[in-house]
Amino acid sequence: MNEKKPFVEVRDLTYSYEDGTQALKGINLTISEGEFIAFIGQNGSGKTTLSKCLNGLFKPTTGSVLVDGLDSKTTSIVQMVKRVGYVFQNPDHQLFNNNCMDEIAYGPRNIGLSEEEVQERVIEAAEVVGLNSIYFHEHPFFLNKGMRQRVAIASILALKPKLIIVDEPTTGQDVRQSLEIMDFLTDLNRNHGHIVIFVTHDMPIVSRYARRVVMMGGGQIIVDGHPADVYAQTENLAKAFVEPPQITQLAQLLKNRGFNPGTLSVTEMVDQYQKYCV
Ligand SMILES: Nc1ncnc2c1ncn2[C@@H]1O[C@H](COP(=O)(O)OP(=O)(O)OP(=O)(O)O)[C@@H](O)[C@H]1O
Ligand SMILES: [Mg+2]
Repeated sequence: MNEKKPFVEVRDLTYSYEDGTQALKGINLTISEGEFIAFIGQNGSGKTTLSKCLNGLFKPTTGSVLVDGLDSKTTSIVQMVKRVGYVFQNPDHQLFNNNCMDEIAYGPRNIGLSEEEVQERVIEAAEVVGLNSIYFHEHPFFLNKGMRQRVAIASILALKPKLIIVDEPTTGQDVRQSLEIMDFLTDLNRNHGHIVIFVTHDMPIVSRYARRVVMMGGGQIIVDGHPADVYAQTENLAKAFVEPPQITQLAQLLKNRGFNPGTLSVTEMVDQYQKYCV
């Protein structure tokens, strides 16, 4: 799974909130170049806390998070956000500028880039997310939720982080918007060189898009692997209250025909099955 260069290495990470809630208990995780990962698990299992530890917003209580060789405990938040971008669970908690342009420009300005560079970054990020410049002077709250999500993602992309974490990108969106946002994240991964982590409760979306699934429960990683392997672990799925779809069976069928489904998304497995096995 991690044949490519590791970008993030999490070792024995624990995180406790100020009130004493231990949200993460002994997390070990390696994330490599090119990966497209789903974080899943029931409410309160620690997905958001882990995501915030990965971009340095939260510092480990014990253990370590190394990003691009830098220890999050001793690295400035500016250096961290240039490497790992976190898009909030609710874009409305992230967007606070009066127009889309200032929103996207905020991060680049904050890390001290020249105004010329800032403008270049805004135009580039807006183009990647498909935000037409006619919206630059709109207030983000006049856009629909899908567009606000794109502005939130653009504001993170403008910092050019290698790893982008999007917390529950499809929550509250209809099926068409969900597929659109996931296709867009896939494009960021395939064509723009970003490692992508998306946090979700949406199992059909996981089946369709994820190449690796990290399932959390009670502040720990319960299973970490290819979607087919994760779904095969029904006992662990029951612990995390996640319904297994018919993926395991499909992977088994492909294996029986001599294919290696380990590197494929579920959509690709279906394609291969239809092309070569029927
Ligand atoms: N600010 C906070 N102060 C104290 N405890 C918190 C805080 N934020 C989260 N927690 C607790 O930490 C644990 C992990 O929460 P976290 O938000 O990381 O879970 P999650 O998997 O993202 O859940 P959800 O699916 O509901 O978004 C939970 O027990 C939660 O109640
Ligand atoms: Mg969360």
